[in-house]
Amino acid sequence: MANTYIYPVVPNAKSQRGPMKGQATTNHNQGFFWNLYGKCYDGINHSIPYRGLLYDLYINLDLRPGLKILDAGCGTGNFEKFLSTRSIPSIEIEAVDFSPVMLARAKQKCRDLSFVNFSAADLNKGLEYPDNSFDRILCCNVLYSLEDPLNVITELFRLLKHDGKLVIANPKPGFKVIPIVRDHFRRIGNIWGLGRKSMVLLKTLVLLPTMGLAPILLNLFVIEKKGEKKEYHFLSESKLRNLLELHKLTNIEVTDAYADQDLFTIATKAA
Ligand SMILES: C[S@@+](CC[C@H](N)C(=O)[O-])C[C@H]1O[C@@H](n2cnc3c(N)ncnc32)[C@H](O)[C@@H]1O
Repeated sequence: MANTYIYPVVPNAKSQRGPMKGQATTNHNQGFFWNLYGKCYDGINHSIPYRGLLYDLYINLDLRPGLKILDAGCGTGNFEKFLSTRSIPSIEIEAVDFSPVMLARAKQKCRDLSFVNFSAADLNKGLEYPDNSFDRILCCNVLYSLEDPLNVITELFRLLKHDGKLVIANPKPGFKVIPIVRDHFRRIGNIWGLGRKSMVLLKTLVLLPTMGLAPILLNLFVIEKKGEKKEYHFLSESKLRNLLELHKLTNIEVTDAYADQDLFTIATKAA
């Protein structure tokens, strides 16, 4: 389950259809935005709630030896880098993203990780893997920005093996940045040891107004506003469940994550 994690202190240390009725109308010319975001995206690793989200993914993917995993919209490879700091079984990850800037950073950052292969792909156009290719698929904070979440879930469902798990994190309707910032400071308060607590607080206070965190906050505010204007698909629990149930995905669990600003969903493709 998501939200079971006692956040560590900063760890170590193809569509034919249009948008669904009533759904957001996405501005599809987003490459510019994501490439710009890609230049500063690594700063998000300083956010304790974000690290917690990575941990929630790690725990809920239930990694086992030999699993083949798809990271749909991998960004700068933060999840793969996070995994490399844990003891994990032998797995293979195919990580895709459409932003050359995000991918370049991911490849550079994860160049020593033999378990991941990064490649360029546009989730709005479908992926070139055969049916039933993956035991696990994760899609973390990506679905909201895509043209049609139903089409993308259809594609991910096609790629998922029977009995495989799909794990999605996506902003809730009403997603706000401030609770994430508040949660970060609250969790600093929970850090064990005055020395460590002071160090993390100091780091945050230095990074907040600077290139470390300021651009991340700015971009999160842009995302928040695009969600309010319904340019992004911030999906409610019932909408998410509907999308998954349309594919007869089973064992659907939906919980809160990311300072309660995301819905964290796990579903299984029937055997
Ligand atoms: C907020 S970031 C999340 C990155 C990563 N999953 C994480 O949790 O850190 C969203 C990512 O989705 C990617 N993305 C957006 N639209 C995409 C598309 N049509 N195809 C592939 N990737 C896309 C962006 O380039 C960006 O890297």
